[in-house]
Amino acid sequence: MESMGELKRSHSCNDLGVDHIDQEVTLMGWVLRRRDHGGVIFIDLRDRWGMTQVVFNPEFNTEVHAKAHVLRSEWVIAVRGKVIRRPEGMVNNNLHTGEIELLVTELRILNSSITPPFPLDEDIEVSDSLRLQYRYLDLRRPGMADNLIMRHKACQALRAFLNDENFLEIETPVLTRSTPEGARDYLVPSRVNPGKFYALPQSPQLFKQLLMVAGMDRYYQIVKCFRDEDLRADRQPEFTQVDMELSFITEEDIYRIAEGVMKSLFAATRGLELKTPFPRMTYAEAMERYGSDKPDTRFGLELISLTDVVRGCGFQVFRTVVEKGGLVQGINAKGCAHLSRKDLDDLTAYVANYGAKGLAWVKVKEDGEWQSPIAKFFTDQERAGMAATLAAQPGDLLFFVADTATIVRTSLAELRLELARRLGLIDKNTFNFLWVTDFPLLEYDHDQKRHTAVHHPFTAPTEEDMAMLESDPGKVRSRAYDLVLNGTEIGGGSLRIHQKEVQNRVFKALSIAPEEAADKFAFLLKALELGAPPHGGIAFGLDRLMMIIAGRDTIRDVIAFPKTQKATCPLTDAPAGVARKQLTELHLRPDWQEEKK
Ligand code: AMO
Ligand code: AMP
Repeated sequence: MESMGELKRSHSCNDLGVDHIDQEVTLMGWVLRRRDHGGVIFIDLRDRWGMTQVVFNPEFNTEVHAKAHVLRSEWVIAVRGKVIRRPEGMVNNNLHTGEIELLVTELRILNSSITPPFPLDEDIEVSDSLRLQYRYLDLRRPGMADNLIMRHKACQALRAFLNDENFLEIETPVLTRSTPEGARDYLVPSRVNPGKFYALPQSPQLFKQLLMVAGMDRYYQIVKCFRDEDLRADRQPEFTQVDMELSFITEEDIYRIAEGVMKSLFAATRGLELKTPFPRMTYAEAMERYGSDKPDTRFGLELISLTDVVRGCGFQVFRTVVEKGGLVQGINAKGCAHLSRKDLDDLTAYVANYGAKGLAWVKVKEDGEWQSPIAKFFTDQERAGMAATLAAQPGDLLFFVADTATIVRTSLAELRLELARRLGLIDKNTFNFLWVTDFPLLEYDHDQKRHTAVHHPFTAPTEEDMAMLESDPGKVRSRAYDLVLNGTEIGGGSLRIHQKEVQNRVFKALSIAPEEAADKFAFLLKALELGAPPHGGIAFGLDRLMMIIAGRDTIRDVIAFPKTQKATCPLTDAPAGVARKQLTELHLRPDWQEEKK
């Protein structure tokens, strides 16, 4: 191999054009592909910025041409030469440098490469595990690099915006105590404090509140958070939040700042001007109309309640569900009566995944008659009532699910999304933001037999509902809000409790005993006694946002080194076993594996 020596890169592989013709330049990069054409060797030379065609012509320079024969994909080279115009008919208008090529006078081979495990010059399907194992090659592929570049731009833009709004960027600790956000903690054993553990933060929630008590007034941070939970396409065990907190504010201030952040981010990444303010919807309305607290509002297919219409009807399934206090809801898929029997069977199987015991359907024929396995169970009058409620017209396809509220909503919400995908109703270039507001403060957990926090335990109840904290805790609404983009929750936050007495009442409603509260959150309760200002904030999931902006289906595509669904890293092979000695030093019993046997 050779060194760069005195050669200095003069341009990137995306810089050169007709203005540079006849200039002497030096490029460095990777061999994307090599083609031999009648003795002339062509190399597509690639770097982060782009690609330039490099030519080794034996008639021009025999020595350099002979040397170029060894070059293979992904070798790293430096080339010096003259920029020339491509011959007539060879211009590539799809390439920024497509009008020129570089006629090489000097070639230095800086490094060779074994054959890559997958080709980098084609848009071929490569298995996820192979891509992650060779992530540094995967990132050389153009689309992937673009995602990281876009992410960089997004961070720069939001920093600039928040700096203008007088925010301070402050770092908070990673080795800390548990910050509950509803997931399991990642724990780190302490060597110098036997039997004690740090928890990696699920979010900087408590520290950002303490920064408000400290008078910092406006804080933000682009920060790693750690959550040990079941992974999905939009969840990673470590992910990045754009986290912020403000003092002496109301919800309106947070909405304005958050909308400003989104505006600056979309302008910087997609060149789009977002319309603000974003629409708002209460949690209750979102559940009613979409069966979900993160509705995708890019298409209709809303849920419609038929519970009152079918009460006491002839179809036993519907009748008994209503008698037992359940719900019957439907969706009118307009003009979809052409769906096949197989489509309907597939959709029935699909909603079964979400607990639905069946999916009743009706095709409305041209004469208004019903083609449906359940038509016979209803009187003419009952059918007319249902059709009117669903605004059914000839050619429509009606769906019904009867069950508990949770199953009806979840399965119809998922049916709605699946239908929209199948019918091609989703426009990838539309960005529909929605604030979801007025969440309940608490929800009842039947397994734990107690209320848990819908957002987190530091969220303030609304002033109107505060009095019900003891008498009817499930009814209390919170001052929490989520920001939803195209059906994905991209951010959430709340106004916080800033008075100790209220915090203690909420802990009590959560069945957190005073001793437990004192043990886990003494520092917070103390701070609330020492002049905590009214405050609140929000955190955005940066990975999810970038996934949507980049038009990807998984957040892995916008993270440089993500983990698999099983929280492993195929590249470094983490997590890995450790030496016995390390365990002993950490006061962990090294024999658990033997014991398990
Ligand atoms: P929350 O738990 O809603 O709020 O998190 C904020 C946002 O972070 C994103 N997110 C995730 N992204 C990828 N992988 C995950 N495992 C993951 N979990 C969450 C989501 C989510 O909306 N401290 C509060 C914020 C506050 O109250 O200010 C918090 O963490 O997009
Ligand atoms: P059955 O009488 O069980 O054959 O059901 C008749 C139709 O009702 C079938 O199309 C089922 O898919 C549908 N069905 C059964 N249970 C439910 C339910 N809980 N909600 C909605 N549709 C149902």
